[in-house]
Formats: sequence, structure tokens, C-alpha cells
Amino acid sequence: MKRFLLFSLALAASIVLSAQVYLDPNAPIEQRVEDALNRMTLNEKIAIIHAQSKFSSPGVARLGIPGLWCTDGPHGIRAEVKWDEWDQAGWTNDSCMAFPTLTCLAATWNPEMALLYGRSIGEEALYRGKNVLLGPGVNIYRTPLNGRNFEYMGEDPCLSATMVVPYVQGVQEKGVAACVKHFALNNQEDGRHVMNVTLSDRALYEIYLPAFEAAVKQGKAWSIMGAYNKIWGQYCCHNHRLLVDILRGEWGFDGAVISDWGGVSNTDEAIRNGLDLEFGSWTDGLTEGRSNSYDMYYMAQPYLKKIRKDEVGTKELDEKVRNVLRLIFRTSMNPNRGFGSLCSEAHAQAARQIADEGIVLLKNDAPKKKAQPVLPIAESTKKILVVGENAIKQMTVGGGSSSLKAQYELSPLQGIQERAAKNGAEVQYVRGYVGDIGGEYNGVTTGQDLRDERSAAELIAEAVQAAKQADVVLFIGGLNKADHQDAEGCDRLQYGLPYAQNELISALAAANRNMAVIILSGNAYAMPWLREVPALVQAWFNGSETGHALADVLFGDVNPSGHLPFTIMPALEDFASHQYGAIGYPGVNNEVEYKEDLFVGYRYADLYGQKKPLRYTADGREYVINPPAHKPLFAFGHGLSYTTFQLGKATRSGNTIRVAVKNTGSRAGKQVVQLYIAPDKSGVIRPVKELKAFQKVALEPGEEKELFFTLTDEMLRYFDAEKHAWVVDPSSYKVLLGTAADNTQIVK
Ligand code: BGC
Repeated sequence: MKRFLLFSLALAASIVLSAQVYLDPNAPIEQRVEDALNRMTLNEKIAIIHAQSKFSSPGVARLGIPGLWCTDGPHGIRAEVKWDEWDQAGWTNDSCMAFPTLTCLAATWNPEMALLYGRSIGEEALYRGKNVLLGPGVNIYRTPLNGRNFEYMGEDPCLSATMVVPYVQGVQEKGVAACVKHFALNNQEDGRHVMNVTLSDRALYEIYLPAFEAAVKQGKAWSIMGAYNKIWGQYCCHNHRLLVDILRGEWGFDGAVISDWGGVSNTDEAIRNGLDLEFGSWTDGLTEGRSNSYDMYYMAQPYLKKIRKDEVGTKELDEKVRNVLRLIFRTSMNPNRGFGSLCSEAHAQAARQIADEGIVLLKNDAPKKKAQPVLPIAESTKKILVVGENAIKQMTVGGGSSSLKAQYELSPLQGIQERAAKNGAEVQYVRGYVGDIGGEYNGVTTGQDLRDERSAAELIAEAVQAAKQADVVLFIGGLNKADHQDAEGCDRLQYGLPYAQNELISALAAANRNMAVIILSGNAYAMPWLREVPALVQAWFNGSETGHALADVLFGDVNPSGHLPFTIMPALEDFASHQYGAIGYPGVNNEVEYKEDLFVGYRYADLYGQKKPLRYTADGREYVINPPAHKPLFAFGHGLSYTTFQLGKATRSGNTIRVAVKNTGSRAGKQVVQLYIAPDKSGVIRPVKELKAFQKVALEPGEEKELFFTLTDEMLRYFDAEKHAWVVDPSSYKVLLGTAADNTQIVK
């Protein structure tokens, strides 16, 4: 009887095996994974856990399992590169729609925009035959010098966690995996390959991990990218605590961990500590390319040798293969995968809509008493002067791995010219300053010749002369994607705007009070001229539709509704990470300590005015937080509109908060209502207040809507490092509602 049973089981198993369950699109994924795994040889298993080219990893040709094709990310689909090099391949059918950068997306404070973004970029990835999109990025904005902040979603864990989820869902709805990056603590570019980060567990869990956690637990991200840097002395791409304990153990991640390109450096750690797919080792395109380079990957021949010598078993390997197969069945062998579309009208509209909602009106005064505010530009305006390199410079090329070959990029000047023509207005352009004249990245060129040999004094004189003749002056400057600006691989060298822009702005403001400063950047910057200029717009890097979106806002076709995803402090010294000298940033001997602990962004700005430093111990380290010397120039969450809103008196009944918002002006507009929790005298160190929820609401002129917020235990908790658990703070607390971190009311 027993024999018969065994025989039947073996027969059933062989039927199942020969039935090739893995090819059956309707079979549950886990069955497909096990079936495919059981058919694979050791060599095939080793092959699928590392790259075969710059951006692809092989499948199992013998079994008809296709490989994976990855692409950057996160703002559009990167141009095809050569098999083994970073250089573009020179195809003519691989240009894409460039979507706004992720700081702009975060500035919309609108999860619907994140969903639209994810779906749109997912469709582009599909059309281009990609299975894994290397993005979105959710590293927290710790210092305004970080060259990659433009690829991330700002300083606040609640905002970035809320925005990342629909982005991931939108991409994956299309059968393309999002690869959330860079896990974790890649908060600066300087020394990113060697830096070891030290921080308290509370800061880790409360500030730096929530967006990743939300992407995994709520967004169900199918892949995640390890960061280049180290934490607790171990590289993030094979960091046991991060990948095994937290990601898989605490969050239940069932996707694949992909290394950052060239982020792996140790075979034993890579085997044991949760890495699944290795990319970019040896052939980083910057050093030498070798014919057998992919065999030399840490998880290639070196791994195989260890197995053959019995130094390691195959348990870890099978786990990695399962994770990679699962990724393949979710993406390249996903039966519901469509064909996608590239550069469609719908994608252009999506890019424009996201940029429209992300542009932030920071300041909008009247140029003189009794006059209208500078913006929107009055229809009667006849002579518009546009000044500044960023009005013409193509920004989608450059900045590092997020550089794109956009099918088109409408510059701010083109957008303004197109729109001004409808009003019969004349647009004059003068350069004003010369910044970066480069226009090439990995063989993709803008084709622009931005050379101009004139001195700064000559350029300023020309601009001032023109400003005197104009009805309105639009200065368009900021940062760009050159090294040490908003770019990967190196941080900014200064907090101030480069290229003598400060002098130029002041000179223009003195020549013509009817002026607006429009800044394209992914970072905050010093504004020594702030009082001199009546209007200021934060316009990010907005991709293909840059010019249209900016003109939409400047001319009032769209009422601005973006709010800052980070705090703008007057000086670098006013940021918490810059309070502690080199050890706080950029690090000493490859060590950087997050000595400001929880007090990042507005959590630090909120200490302004406190007489004494905060002193406490966490994880055995002493923390001293000196309050900032200045208030923010613009608070986190700040953003103006061309209409006015009134937030009614908020009331609380049980766990429900209710507030009415009314549009009291004459234009339709959108307001962002933000809910913060402010603990009273807590027994533990807590920030003054923390964002816990927000809603964006659209209102016609005169319209009023009621918003409801539900208070949950999760909003009241903090991370107790000793217990290694989230704990609901038993102390009393206030609920604050408002429209910016510095503009809130207490809910009674
Ligand atoms: C970047 C990643 C990127 C990868 C592939 C790395 O240098 O840090 O964000 O996805 O390159 O281009």
C-alpha cells in the first residue's frame, strides 16, 4: 500500500512536472515558481541571479523563460544603452516622454497624480519592452546639498510614504515591476560608495524607512534596490539587518532585492544577506569591460565555486532563484501584460497635469501699493522680458542615471512665447547669466549651443537695460543637471544659487519691480534677494511639458496648487544636518553620523525659539539638538494660490476630525489641508509636531466642502528602540490642521 502511494505521488509529480505548470499563466505564481525551480540546473540558477548586460539579466533559454530588462527611472524610460556600456546605443526609436521629477510629484500632495504618473511611465516601460523600472526613489531630504534630492519625494516620511504607494501600484498594474530605491540611507552623493551611516533606530524607523515600508506593505512593490552606502558597517546591498531582518522579516517582502549598479562587493555577504540580483559589478563602464566579466560577478563563478567546494549549500541560492522567478512571472511572463504606449498624447497630458499641480507659488505680492499681484500675468501685458539660462536650457539630459532622451522638451521660453502670442504680447529674451553649457550625457545630446563669451557684468547690464523697457520681467534660473548642481554622483558645493544669479536678480528687481523669479531646481537654496522680489515660483524640473506647465501657471490658466515637500531655511547652517561639522555632513573618514536624529526638516525648524538645546540619549549615544537660529523662509507644506481659501473651525468628535474649506476668491483652485499631531509633554523625546495625513481638495469659486480625517493609533505611535516595537504614546496630544507647517490651528 505504502509503495503504491509513493508510486502514485511520484507519478503525479512527474505529470505535474511534464505539464510545465510554470508555463501555465493561470496557475498560481508560487506553483509556477516551484515548478520552474525544480527544472533548473545549478548553472542555470547561478545565471539568473546576476546580469548578462548593463541592464538585463538572463532567463532560462532552455525552458523558454525570458530574462529581465531593467531601465532607469524614475522620470522616464532611459535611452537604450550598448550591451556592455553606459553609452547610448544610438537607436532612433527609443526616445520617451519625460515626466516631472519626483520632487515635483511630491509637491502636488496628490496621490491621484502619483497613480497617474505610475500608470503613464509603466505604459512607456511596457512599450519599450522593460520589466523593471528602476524607481521611484524615496530617500529622505536630509541636506539641501544632496545632488539627488530631485529624484526623491522630500523631507517627510508621511508625505513620501503616501505618494510612493500609488506610483508603485500604477507601474505594477501594467505588469512592470517598480524597483524602489535606494534602500536605505543614501541621503548624499558625496562618498556614496564608501560612507558608513550611523543613526539611532528611532530615526531609522520614524524618518528614513516609512516610505520604503509603505512601498512594500501597501504598494506591494515587486523589487527594491539596495543603496551604495554602508549602514552599521555593512554595505546596504548585502546588509543582513536591512534585507533579512527588516525587509523580509518585519515587512514580509516577497519581491526581489536588486543591487545598485556596482553596489556588491562581497560574495559571502551577498549569498547570506538577502541579495537576489546583482547588477553593474566589474563592468561599470567607467573601468574596464572584459569579455567574461559577467562570470566574474560576486554572485556568478565565485558563488558557483563555493557551492562546488561545499563551502555553502544551495538553500540560499534556491531562495534567490525563487525571488527572481517570481519577478519574472509577475512581469515578463505576466499573462495580463499589455503592450503599452510611448510618447502618447495621454502621456503628454499626464506630464503636464502633474507639473501643473506641482509648481509652487511661494510668494506673490503686488509690485507697488494698490496694484495687483505680479502673477498671474495680466492679459493687458504687452512686453514680457524673459531672462535666464534656465528659460532655454534642456534639462532632461544630464543629472546622472535619470538622464533621458526625451522625444521633445518644451522650454520655459517656448511655453511662454506660445501662450503670450494668444494675448498678442511680445516676448523678449536675454541670457542674463551663463551657467552650464554642456548638453551631453552618455552620448545623448541636446544639440544646443549655449556658448556665450560675455562677462557676468556685460550680461547683467544687458538684462537690466531690457528690464527697464518691459511691462513684466520673468527671471528663470536656479540649478541645472551639471555636476555639483542637481546631479547624481556629487553633491552641491554651496547652498546659494551659482553663476552670479543673486546679483542678477537684485539688479533686475531694482530695474523693474514688476518681476517674478522662477526657479528650476530640485533643492532649496539661499534667497538673499527675497525681500526685493515681489513674486517667486518654485518650478522644479518638469520634463517634456516644462514650458506648457509653467506658462499655464504664469498666465493663470492653471491656478497653482503645489506645496513644498521640504523646508527652505535661510542658510545652510539652519539645516539640522549641518549643525555638527563634517561628521554630520559630509562625513569624516567615511563615517557620517546623523546627529540631528529625528529632527530633520520641519521637525528641526519647529525648535526655533526654544531657549535650551534638547539633550537626550538614544541607542547609547548622546544627542544635543541646538535650536535653529532662524525661522524658515518658506515652511514645509507652504504653497499659495491665485484664489483665497478659508479653513473653517475644525471640530473633533471621537476619532473624527471635521473641517470645512471654502474657496473665498473668484477662481477655481485646490487647497491642501494638512493634519499634524503635536504630543503634549511626552515621556519620550518627540518632535513638536508630525504630519500624519493630508487631503487635496478642488473648489469652485464660493464653493465649500467638508473634509473628514480619522485619527488612528498609528498616528500616535513612536518607535521604542529598547522594545524594538512601535508604541502608542500614552501622553495627551493636540491635533493641528492647516495649510503649511507654519500655518496651523489647534483642533478643539
Ligand atoms: C544609480 C541608480 C540607477 C543605476 C542604473 C546607479 O548609479 O544609483 O539609481 O538606477 O545606476 O543606472
